[in-house]
Amino acid sequence: MNTAQFIPKSTTSNIKEATFTWKTPSNIALVKYWGKSNSQIPKNTSISFTLNNCHTITSVKFSKIDTVATVNFDLFFEGKPKEEFTPKIAEFFKRIANYCPYIFDYKMVIDSENSFPHSSGIASSASGLSAIAMCLMSLEKELYPEITSDFINKKASFLARLGSGSASRSIEGPLVVWGNHKDIPESSDLYGVRFPFKIHTIFKNYQDAILLVDKGEKQVSSTVGHNLMHQHPYASNRFLQANQNISKITKILSEGDIKAFVNLVESEALTLHAMMLMSNPYFILMKPNTLEIINKIWEYRAQHNSNVCFTLDAGANVHVLFPESEKKAIHKFIDSELAVFCQHKQYILDEVGLGAESL
Ligand code: PMV
Repeated sequence: MNTAQFIPKSTTSNIKEATFTWKTPSNIALVKYWGKSNSQIPKNTSISFTLNNCHTITSVKFSKIDTVATVNFDLFFEGKPKEEFTPKIAEFFKRIANYCPYIFDYKMVIDSENSFPHSSGIASSASGLSAIAMCLMSLEKELYPEITSDFINKKASFLARLGSGSASRSIEGPLVVWGNHKDIPESSDLYGVRFPFKIHTIFKNYQDAILLVDKGEKQVSSTVGHNLMHQHPYASNRFLQANQNISKITKILSEGDIKAFVNLVESEALTLHAMMLMSNPYFILMKPNTLEIINKIWEYRAQHNSNVCFTLDAGANVHVLFPESEKKAIHKFIDSELAVFCQHKQYILDEVGLGAESL
């Protein structure tokens, strides 16, 4: 592990004012990260599809000031000051300060908006933090013109990870692996890397429809959830299983074994929820409609010889995954049979994307 590579040397560059805007995506894990040690070092490797339509757009305006002791920033969300997000972002800046000492030389005005509805149960920390990380790296590139785009992506992922683990997987696409793994060259606990192998055509442009079953506040914060894995009776087996699933999915993605994909992805989703069912305190994050949807998907798959499947985050919403070739049929299925189980019949049609974009 080498965090020193991310500490910049002093610079003589003098940038007085600059504004950068980045659009960064959300992601959905196929093999889940659940359990960590300090500073978001994952207990197992995870892999995710980068999404395309669910994203955050963030601008950061940097204006040079006399060096300050506490990071100086204003935060606007959808054009309005957003006090309740300030502590989380202040904590993020505290965690990355050692790696971005130049933030003390600037007043930062952060303007952010999400493409998906706020409080939709879709985690905005991954796209939100990766967007700020990319804006910081744009400033760093001005201050240190010699840094490469590979370094920029790695460090942005490293910084985002310090804010929220899964955010490390929201810089690149279409598939990102985070966590050191014997089968994935260059993989690291410190940052996400693009899946380095061939991806079978069946997994190109993969579709994800996010069914908004419950838009309420998260019942378990990620921090509490990850901590529950410390005393969990099944934790060590789970970490082992996840790492074995990374080996399996690596082969599946390259060979196009979609039946095996369906089985592994659904098993991962249910295992994540099983971990919560078996922790103490225990939680049930699925809602009755989550189960209705899962059963409908299973029924549909059997009846239509389909490859549609589901995955879940740490909440009640259902991500419906399917190959592009089934797009028309599954949209019809969702509209006629699944939307009734969503709050206000709301769902978001998304697909796999390629990662952060400078605007
Ligand atoms: O990034 P965090 O600390 O919010 O953890 C999120 C973990 C899951 O979304 C439940 C799974 C994953 O790998 O994204």
